[in-house]
Amino acid sequence: MPRHSCRNCRTPDTPTQAEVFKPNPMLALGLGLVVITFFAVAMLALTALVHPAQAADLPATPSAERQHELTRFVRQECGFCHGIHLTGGLGSPLTAEALVGKSSDALEASILYGRTGTAMPGWMPHLNESDANWIVTALMKGFPE
Ligand code: HEC
Repeated sequence: MPRHSCRNCRTPDTPTQAEVFKPNPMLALGLGLVVITFFAVAMLALTALVHPAQAADLPATPSAERQHELTRFVRQECGFCHGIHLTGGLGSPLTAEALVGKSSDALEASILYGRTGTAMPGWMPHLNESDANWIVTALMKGFPE
């Protein structure tokens, strides 16, 4: 009996090319989910890093430690433009006398968002609303040394 040598025949357990290289949909889905989760977590972590203050619930008043930090921050960062004694420089004076009658909401907004078209930058990445509120209240009373 001649040997059966038909080329199209194959034994049922020999996989075809297509079967060998067929991507496993469950594996692809699983990998996709892992990648998406990874990026989501990475983005959240980054956001928390950039906005440490926003990541937590905002307390009404900053802690004593934070108030101390804010005092130094204002003296250094804001003093750069507003003058070391906050009596004005490139930026307008921020003394209690200079702020009499000004709306504290507007002053807070200036601190958080800056003043478009002026050198005054927004401080959102560094300060949250309760920080800005505390700074404005402190400025209006006369800023602590
Ligand atoms: C790069 C310079 C610069 C820095 C730094 C800066 N400011 Fe200013 N700021 C200005 C200028 C300029 C103005 C005036 C804008 C205008 O003419 O409306 C201003 C305006 C303000 C006003 C509004 C004053 C008003 O009378 O309406 C407040 C409040 C203020 N700055 C607070 C701050 C605080 C708080 C910081 C630090 C966290 C700060 N600024 C840092 C330049 C600066």
